[in-house]
Amino acid sequence: MKETDSEVGILLENTPAISLRGLTKSFGSVHAVSNLDLDIASGEFFSMLGPSGSGKTTVLRMIAGFELPTAGTVVLDGTDVTKLAPFDRDVNTVFQDYALFGHMTVLENVAYGLRVRGIAKATRSKQAEEALEMVRLGGFGGRKPAELSGGQRQRVALARAIVVKPKVLLLDEPLGALDLKLREQMQIELKQLQRELAITFVFVTHDQEEALTLSDRIAVFNSGHIEQIGSPRELYEQPKTNFVAGFVGTTNIFDEDASALLFGKRIRSTMRPERIPVFEQPTQGARQGRVIEAIYLGSATRIHIKLDAGPTITALVRAGSDAEQQWHRDQVVQVDLDEKNLVKLETN
Ligand SMILES: Nc1ncnc2c1ncn2[C@@H]1O[C@H](COP(=O)(O)OP(=O)(O)OP(=O)(O)O)[C@@H](O)[C@H]1O
Ligand SMILES: [Mg+2]
Repeated sequence: MKETDSEVGILLENTPAISLRGLTKSFGSVHAVSNLDLDIASGEFFSMLGPSGSGKTTVLRMIAGFELPTAGTVVLDGTDVTKLAPFDRDVNTVFQDYALFGHMTVLENVAYGLRVRGIAKATRSKQAEEALEMVRLGGFGGRKPAELSGGQRQRVALARAIVVKPKVLLLDEPLGALDLKLREQMQIELKQLQRELAITFVFVTHDQEEALTLSDRIAVFNSGHIEQIGSPRELYEQPKTNFVAGFVGTTNIFDEDASALLFGKRIRSTMRPERIPVFEQPTQGARQGRVIEAIYLGSATRIHIKLDAGPTITALVRAGSDAEQQWHRDQVVQVDLDEKNLVKLETN
């Protein structure tokens, strides 16, 4: 991760692929996006993560040119494009619903963008075929979209977007309609594709695991503003706010009272469940509690524990760390709340 951080640091010293300044969008009284500043490096896999209605799609649409900002600027590769039409920007978008043309073959769908640009038939067929190969759909060109699976259709949409070789690819929840297995497979393929093509990806998702897996950096959105930007590791290990700590992964959040009680500090803080060892034998410094619920997850067990000291916490015990150990409701257990695993949160 460190490597990635410094890579992005170096990349950002060059002209950013995307530069947003004071970007704002209101729909009547709804402030969809408020005064956003953001630089995305060329070749970066950048994700926008946030709950429904937090403004992710609106930002993407302003970058693409489908939406005019109420205030602020969109600069692509050093050029102010705020007022340019979508087709005058070196950007392509993959929408959640694929939007394939049902009456055209897969090859015609992929070649469409080339046709609009006036590329000769032989050339566009060849390039479309190459794009299909890239998304591992070589030989599927003659089919109609209706004759494909959901994941294959999704890949046609991707091929259609990359065939024109945009500098920037915007992807709005492109995997949203897929089942978990296919989704995970497509995540790997997307990442490989991005590396091969070396184009800038801006990826919108509300799935935190997906964002963590794929991204060089993530911006966490909350009500139209960015709460925190960082590498997956930074966001997970050093969340700055309650919101980020709770949205990126699951966590224990201690308010001032709980922190004072457990650690003698009146701060707002958080500790990840996997950082809390649980055991049966009373030990010096450990805290005693009672299991409220033990949820078996296969690779781990999530244990909710009411501490004798008052607060209720969640711990995550990996399977294999003690294979024979079984956890059950009402069991008396010990936990080790090590202060070095405590992360201080800004109050908000
Ligand atoms: N055309 C519009 N007219 C009025 N309000 C809109 C319009 N488009 C978006 N909004 C509002 O702007 C806010 C941000 O919407 P946006 O679509 O950007 O959210 P999002 O983060 O993409 O959410 P989701 O995860 O549900 O797709 C929401 O409150 C939404 O209702
Ligand atoms: Mg959206």
